[in-house]
Amino acid sequence: MPPLPLIIDTDTGSDDAVALLLAAASGLGDVRAVTTVAGNVPLETGTRNALISLEMARRTDIPVHPGCARPMARPLSSAQHVHGEDGMGDIGLPDPGRLPESGHAIDVLLAAPRERPGELTLVTLAPLTNIAAALLRDPELLTRYRHVYCMAGAADLRGNVAPTAEFNVWADPEAARIVAQAATPDKVTWIGWDVSRKDAVMTPADQRHLEEIGTPLATFAHRINRTVADSVRDVTGLPGYDLPDPVAMAVALRPGLVTEAERAYVEIAVGDEARGQMIIDRRVCAPAPNLTLVRRVDASGFKRLLFDTVAAPDAPAPDAPAPLSPLPGNSR
Ligand code: RIB
Ligand code: CA
Repeated sequence: MPPLPLIIDTDTGSDDAVALLLAAASGLGDVRAVTTVAGNVPLETGTRNALISLEMARRTDIPVHPGCARPMARPLSSAQHVHGEDGMGDIGLPDPGRLPESGHAIDVLLAAPRERPGELTLVTLAPLTNIAAALLRDPELLTRYRHVYCMAGAADLRGNVAPTAEFNVWADPEAARIVAQAATPDKVTWIGWDVSRKDAVMTPADQRHLEEIGTPLATFAHRINRTVADSVRDVTGLPGYDLPDPVAMAVALRPGLVTEAERAYVEIAVGDEARGQMIIDRRVCAPAPNLTLVRRVDASGFKRLLFDTVAAPDAPAPDAPAPLSPLPGNSR
């Protein structure tokens, strides 16, 4: 299979960084652009982390376009208590050697699938603010992508940031509602936190294995997630840190990893008590499904992909693919 042409939207915390490595260094992805958005950390920090992660993957040819600096209708509630102040475990990573692009993320998200109708896969690893803002300008946007995979929600209503809500949907529930309302299940797949906490938990043995691999990518992936392990132990009680964005990326790169999925009609709660909760209507009288929900993934297959990717010796930077034609005002 040729590498999958990808656009990735991220709030680059430590798990997003591992997802970027999977996309850029596994050989399975052909990353055409990365767009960033406020979420785990403020926009500028997440953009810095995306540039660092792509530098680690030796893919400084991939353009990074900053997007929205706050949710659509609320102030930003970041997750620095989980991922560290810098979003990358506060291990003192040096600044990246390049700047982001000047073209706005929303313009890239709108222009890219018009340049390549039906060719690009969009993977979102963050609050859906950029995507929702783009949808307000192009209501047909999601149909122009080959497929859209979102790390979003918790279909079993076991939350992480709140009792029944997952962070990406909770942080900007209005944006998640706009995306869910525009979605069709043949085009949009959500991989929720329920999948991550069941099939993407790095147990102490997995963490030791990652550390023993010892390559630059493995050491990077292990060290930047050190603060997440403490947070999940003290909040959700998992036996290790989970990797929600990497398992969502793995599904996009290898859909065969999915072992259980369903199509359902989903609305998003925006009220205070149930903010960010997925309201899944499985009644016979429910409206037609709008989302495909992944429920389980082949956990060992996912971890094998992760370990194989980070174990690769310093892969030479591949010939840079022809980047998306520059957008107006996009300095290179
Ligand atoms: O709930 C998990 C999601 O929130 C992941 O995308 C993680 O990076 C944080 O953004
Ligand atoms: Ca994320």
